Amino acid sequence: MCGITGYIGYREAYPIIIQGLRRLEYRGYDSAGVVLFDGQDINLSKTKGKVSELEKKVTEGVSTKGNIGFGHTRWATHGVPNHINSHPHLSQSGNLVIVHNGIIENYDTLKKELLSRGYKFHSDTDTEVLINLIEEIKLQENCKLGKAVQLALNQVVGAYAILVFDKNKPNELVVAKLGSPIAMGIGKDNKEFFIASDATPFIEYTKDAIYLEDGELAIVKLDRDIHIRKINDDQIVNDLRIQQLQLSLDQIEKGGYEHFMLKEIYEQPSAITDTYRGRLLANKGIIKMAGLDDNLERFLNAKRIIIVACGTSWHAGLVAEYLFEEIARIPVEVEYGSEFRYRNPIITENDVVIAISQSGETADTLAAVKLAKSKGAFVFGICNVVGSSIAREAHAGAYTHAGPEIGVASTKAFTTQITLLSLLALKLGKEKGNIDTPSYQTYLQEMVQIPSKIEKLLGEDAHVKKIAAIYKDLPNFLYLGRGYNFPVALEGALKLKEISYIHAEGYPAAEMKHGPIALIDENMPVAVIATRRGHYQKVVSNIQEIKSRKGIIIAIVTEGDTTVKDIADHIIEVPETLEAFTPLLTTIPLQLLSYHIAVMRGCNVDQPRNLAKAVTVE
Ligand code: G6P
Repeated sequence: MCGITGYIGYREAYPIIIQGLRRLEYRGYDSAGVVLFDGQDINLSKTKGKVSELEKKVTEGVSTKGNIGFGHTRWATHGVPNHINSHPHLSQSGNLVIVHNGIIENYDTLKKELLSRGYKFHSDTDTEVLINLIEEIKLQENCKLGKAVQLALNQVVGAYAILVFDKNKPNELVVAKLGSPIAMGIGKDNKEFFIASDATPFIEYTKDAIYLEDGELAIVKLDRDIHIRKINDDQIVNDLRIQQLQLSLDQIEKGGYEHFMLKEIYEQPSAITDTYRGRLLANKGIIKMAGLDDNLERFLNAKRIIIVACGTSWHAGLVAEYLFEEIARIPVEVEYGSEFRYRNPIITENDVVIAISQSGETADTLAAVKLAKSKGAFVFGICNVVGSSIAREAHAGAYTHAGPEIGVASTKAFTTQITLLSLLALKLGKEKGNIDTPSYQTYLQEMVQIPSKIEKLLGEDAHVKKIAAIYKDLPNFLYLGRGYNFPVALEGALKLKEISYIHAEGYPAAEMKHGPIALIDENMPVAVIATRRGHYQKVVSNIQEIKSRKGIIIAIVTEGDTTVKDIADHIIEVPETLEAFTPLLTTIPLQLLSYHIAVMRGCNVDQPRNLAKAVTVE
């Protein structure tokens, strides 16, 4: 995890770096640091806490002068979050400085070797080991920084994106990557360069960007160019693969909302429209998606689909299990990336593996993709971040086009993933002849109604907020749903846990009797999804069971419902839709409920404690 950003050019580097770190804070925020070179000295400042803490510290006296520098916002892996373990890290001589995102797995062996050569370590980090290894090699081999970094990385086992500077070579930065993302922005006439974990820190300066590939090292030379070579064999990469960024500044700003999470909840109607735009031609009865169309045979011949994902994306995978099995009649297994990769799964060439990931960088999902590929399966990636590692590693795929999701708790990524997965299931169902034309048409026509139905549902926000105010101080919540809405119950509980730190559990409504019912009393709010379609009567019975034990019912019901209204303490109405699409609607009030509860409890909803947006470590 962690975010890194750097600058070399003619402007003052500090404001660019601080702005960049703020934009990268979603990647980790337990400590932050910045280093600047003023032409003579390396000035370093770091602290435990967020980027705002770093800014305060810097104003207390460290020089912010310099046209070269870089910064880091950390999600701790090795060593507790404190001042000493924060990045950047200096080498023993103080001449070299590094920021690092990732994990050096063999750091202990390397550290022992360096200790025996007289190196002293101040922090508990693997990163300080790496910078001293680079220094040692540079001294031993009497070579330039780029070569020393390359030789050091050939001794390293692990994952990294690094940015290294040598005080004695102040016109260049060395960048390298394996497993963690890094982008480089190219200023006009090579007069300035930007480096960052994603492109957001530099979008107002340049649209020309290079995404370094795994196993590559770049030397960024001021007034010259970027030179890329392979870390393992010195091969020069001649094609710099310069891309035009599609991002815009307003996409990554709050746009008048108090939090990114709220903005992203409200963006769902447009995000979903962007997901199906150009793919769903409802009036013509057509679904087209290049990644699917070009590989249709692989899907149609698949004996099963295995979905791998983590977190909220895994919940979208669970919804997809219902979609694919019901509409396309293809057996589906849904796996956590972390479990899948380590249990020697049985995968064959007849399997299609769908990897779902908002960031496209989640380490466990990425490892699962690589494993599935090595066993001959066809891998289809569903990612939001364009050019991300999973998107590039998969054989084919489709982007959700939800726009940047910055709030750490995922919202629009979830509903857009479900939208895309619905299109896949419908197309496959049609191609396999498992869905008749009128039903297929009904689905397509209904899908284009979903954004306006969500828009209407967002009008319930004030009502949801009132419910939040009543229960915000209770210590536990239960979420229940059946069928398509069982994963929504899991997702509702996850949202509340993540951002409000209230303990919450999601359960299949009928399973409640096998355990959670013991927890129910007058202090237990139970959010029950009881839409008119799908097991409605059964869920009504579950609600009765809760009420007879004095539980508090917050029911998500279909507009016009009267039965549940009579029993529940609160109802939130969602517009009528097809059962398969209910998750796209029932999720919204649960997102709003957790958002308001978290805000009322004074929690930082966009940056919940201990979490990070992209988990690029195991
Ligand atoms: C982290 C985030 C979650 C996200 C999960 C999977 O835990 O905090 O919001 O759902 O990673 O991320 P991905 O980018 O693979 O969807």
